[in-house]
Amino acid sequence: QLPMHDALKSLAWLEGTWKTEYVGQGKYPTIKPFTYHEEIVFASIGQPMFNYVAQSWHPEKKTPMHRETGFLKVIPGTNKVSLLLAHNFGLTTIEEGEIGDNEIVLKSSSITRLTMGCKDPAVVKISRKFKLIGEKLHHTVYMATTTTTKETEHLQAVYTKQTA
Ligand code: HEM
Repeated sequence: QLPMHDALKSLAWLEGTWKTEYVGQGKYPTIKPFTYHEEIVFASIGQPMFNYVAQSWHPEKKTPMHRETGFLKVIPGTNKVSLLLAHNFGLTTIEEGEIGDNEIVLKSSSITRLTMGCKDPAVVKISRKFKLIGEKLHHTVYMATTTTTKETEHLQAVYTKQTA
């Protein structure tokens, strides 16, 4: 295992596996509110990026729900960061932003979706924040869609870092 790349040093606190202890809250003006659990892994293998996967599941049924997987990439020598993701429901997204004080703030610069088999409405914009508060990782996601054009909260969850 190679040591963490220097570009990730300001984000060293993120490395590892984070899991919701209490359910996350999902909502949107057009859907019924829901709850979920999620595990997010930020893995360092010596490159200037974390390999990233977030898997969510139904709190009672335990069945898998959303999965997004990709890379959280830092431009070495800067506080610029991008999150490149493929989502299991047929989306690929690039979000770009900055590393702040114990936080990352991202906004989508590109969203593409499968031409077949994706349900409407389409996602038009995504913005999200990861923030370390005390020992907990707070994650909020906002989006705009073709029916709800103003960016509106979709997800909110708090994670605890898994030890061992
Ligand atoms: C609904 C996008 C992450 C669970 C939706 C809708 C969109 C969407 C566009 C449809 C809204 C509408 O009908 O007006 C996204 C994006 C995500 C994301 C872009 C990540 C960036 C998640 C996650 C979960 C989740 C992590 C957790 C389990 C749901 C559920 C619905 C929904 C349960 C309602 C489905 C329904 O009632 O048909 N999402 N989502 N989503 N999303 Fe997400």
